[in-house]
Amino acid sequence: MATHAGELTQEAVRVEGLHRSFNKTGGVLNGLDLEIAPGEFVALIGRSGSGKSTLLRALAGLDRGVDGWGRISVPDKVSMVFQDSRLLPWRRVLDNVVLGLGGRDAKDRGRKALAEVGLAGRERAWAHQLSGGEAQRAALARSLVRDPQLLLADEPFGALDALTRLNMHTLLRELCERHRPSVLLVTHDVDEAIVLADRVIVLDGGVIQSDVRIDLGSRRDPADPRFAALRRQLLNALGVDLDADGLVRDPDPDDLASDRPDRSRGVDRKAAS
Ligand SMILES: Nc1ncnc2c1ncn2[C@@H]1O[C@H](COP(=O)(O)OP(=O)(O)OP(=O)(O)O)[C@@H](O)[C@H]1O
Ligand SMILES: [Mg+2]
Repeated sequence: MATHAGELTQEAVRVEGLHRSFNKTGGVLNGLDLEIAPGEFVALIGRSGSGKSTLLRALAGLDRGVDGWGRISVPDKVSMVFQDSRLLPWRRVLDNVVLGLGGRDAKDRGRKALAEVGLAGRERAWAHQLSGGEAQRAALARSLVRDPQLLLADEPFGALDALTRLNMHTLLRELCERHRPSVLLVTHDVDEAIVLADRVIVLDGGVIQSDVRIDLGSRRDPADPRFAALRRQLLNALGVDLDADGLVRDPDPDDLASDRPDRSRGVDRKAAS
């Protein structure tokens, strides 16, 4: 098994030579190295089944029993957000947020966190009374209230409609600017990665295959040619074939007939205009 040290290094996260496999036929993570600086926001993309969730679970220490080795150093306070909110339906929203939290002021902190995500007044609602977007806000509050030094988010907006998703982007950016955790966010949406992250990394073959810094400042406009160039670069790294206009090229009929794996499977195929 890998070590899962709690010590802080100069980086918030340091992963060295991480291997994980679920069966004897091959590894999912094959000697992966990764560093994340304190306060840095990193987006992780990669085709479906490439090992993104496996990496997050390893960082969260949730993969005991999985074969593997390597070195992982993360901060003491790590929090995780998933695609579904994982709120307990038989508990009220505030109770969900402060579940397992110690201290006499836990509920006050929970109320403050709910206010920060725009859910003031919904403390006594039952979890099932929240919309999908509200439930994800509550899940963010549950993470926030723990004051994480590292926030791991596995497709947290994947099940939301486009408008709610945009609102969640704004909220997450504001929260991260205020609280400055290091963030590792998994997404299938290349635009979401470019809008949110300081760096976008691409997982392929069990290692980080590309590592792209996003130097677009705080106002990120998908119509900006620099944004479009980054989108093209990342889609290419995912194996998505683009034509000269930046549109996803129709697959060759011969390729469809062959057994060649589609490396872009599971990736949002947007035009890279
Ligand atoms: N508990 C498990 N038992 C057996 N195989 C597993 C287990 N968890 C993951 N795998 C396999 O490991 C590989 C990587 O899975 P993982 O969930 O990390 O992919 P992912 O990149 O998160 O994919 P997606 O984008 O679809 O969420 C897949 O082939 C998957 O079938
Ligand atoms: Mg996954």
